[in-house]
Amino acid sequence: MGRFYVTTPIYYVNDVPHLGHAYCTVNADAIARWHRGLGDETLFLTGTDEHGTKVAESAESHGVTPAEWTDRTSARFQEAWRSLNVSNDDFIRTTEDRHYATVRTFLKRIYDNGYIVKDTYKGLYCVSCEDYYTTESLEAGLCPVHRRAVVEMEEDNYFFRLSAFEDRLIEWYESQPDAIRPAAKRKEALSFIRGGLKDVSITRTSLSWGVPVPWDEEHVFYVWYDALINYLTAIGYGSDDERVAEWWPHVHHLIGKEIIRFHCVWWPAMCMAAGIDPPASIFVHGWLLVGGHKLSKSMAGEEDSPVKLTEISPASLTEDFGVDAVRYHLLRDTPLGTDGEFSIEGLTSRYNSDLANNLGNLVARVATVVGSKCGGIGPAPAADSPLVAASEEAVAGALAAWEKFAPHEALEATWRLIGAANAELEATAPWKAEPGTVDDVLGSALEVVRIVALLISAAMPATADEIWHRIGLSGSPADELLPDAAQWGGYPGGLVVTKGDPLFPRRK
Ligand code: MSP
Repeated sequence: MGRFYVTTPIYYVNDVPHLGHAYCTVNADAIARWHRGLGDETLFLTGTDEHGTKVAESAESHGVTPAEWTDRTSARFQEAWRSLNVSNDDFIRTTEDRHYATVRTFLKRIYDNGYIVKDTYKGLYCVSCEDYYTTESLEAGLCPVHRRAVVEMEEDNYFFRLSAFEDRLIEWYESQPDAIRPAAKRKEALSFIRGGLKDVSITRTSLSWGVPVPWDEEHVFYVWYDALINYLTAIGYGSDDERVAEWWPHVHHLIGKEIIRFHCVWWPAMCMAAGIDPPASIFVHGWLLVGGHKLSKSMAGEEDSPVKLTEISPASLTEDFGVDAVRYHLLRDTPLGTDGEFSIEGLTSRYNSDLANNLGNLVARVATVVGSKCGGIGPAPAADSPLVAASEEAVAGALAAWEKFAPHEALEATWRLIGAANAELEATAPWKAEPGTVDDVLGSALEVVRIVALLISAAMPATADEIWHRIGLSGSPADELLPDAAQWGGYPGGLVVTKGDPLFPRRK
């Protein structure tokens, strides 16, 4: 038992919440829930990134002030996460006073340490990325991420002396080989550092929608520069040193692959410049694609993109398939670290095979046979059941998988146990046997159902609770302590087992 602090990137409020955002948030949520289950004191942070040109432009195009626009859109993210049963402990908005205070304290420290200097900057800027590009890094003259035209910008700016951190960053990478995962992403970031780092412009005078620079109020901080600091705002940097000391050593950032440079190069260097340790770990995930395209609003508007974002908003899917089915699909089908293709067909087929046929079927079958052969009272499990080994393997597999940010593997391990229990029921066919002869088989199947409820509680909390109650247990699997609670033999027997409606009715 220890502490675990997990973060998602904070989402830009120029976009509406879509399935790509949900992918990251649900993964972070499940990881946070798993750690709570292990008894770790857990802090799960998500939020919205509300400054910058892009947001100011969105507000203008909707005829409202940036403040009105950010209030409205930030609320949509909070709503989306509530509807996906996301258990964030805090939701940070970069327009909050607490964030302004932390940003100003943190950057003033970097300034006082001599790592922020004034200079003139000229370059090609992509408003969607809120970032400068060199001519060589453009594709057909356009931003390689958004395929939109870049604009030439010239500004008198403050610069962060990133170049001063090349050696220290390389040393950090070498001394902490697991800090950035997967290994391929670590390699990518490291070779970027080895390629030589340039100082970065961190302030703007061309817009006022940002955090004012404390030592020169005509400038506001560049949106990325304030955004990264949110991870420290939430733990009270600048106002509560004790809290920072408690949580910062345990931080894990979950991020998408296009923001690796900000998180794996700038951010550790900024921390070093301010005199604190770089983040404990950063896990880089891939993208959900639709028809080979990244799911994002900017792409959806383009002619060659078939994506209609509004058709695949998280809410439309949860209304149709149920919250836990969508969560399961997000966690199970696109392993963290790789890209995945989203399709309704893929979701439907996963739903039918894993949820309706395997999990739903196991729970329904056990309850039905306990009804017909045991008068609806669940027997206790057998100590020597052939399912003991399968269950131990599932628990060990899940533990190892969550530890390495591989929810899909944890679920695979759990579904092998479900498969083993279904096969055991097929082999022993208790529905054909005489009442009184099947207690061991049914008690053991109920014990598997109990263990499965514990193992899926992080991924599918409502389903886990429902199953728990159907087999007569009170409370919630989320309140039990893992892995001890998942040891064989915990189902006491003598409890009322209820059949209920199908958990996951088959879909066409
Ligand atoms: N505001 C910045 C992050 C600042 S963190 C200090 C930002 N916001 S974003 O809204 O554009 O993206 C937020 C996250 O959503 C990124 O990690 C990005 O990878 C993720 N996703 C957006 N579309 C995605 C998919 N289609 N698939 C998976 N995740 C993707 O960048």
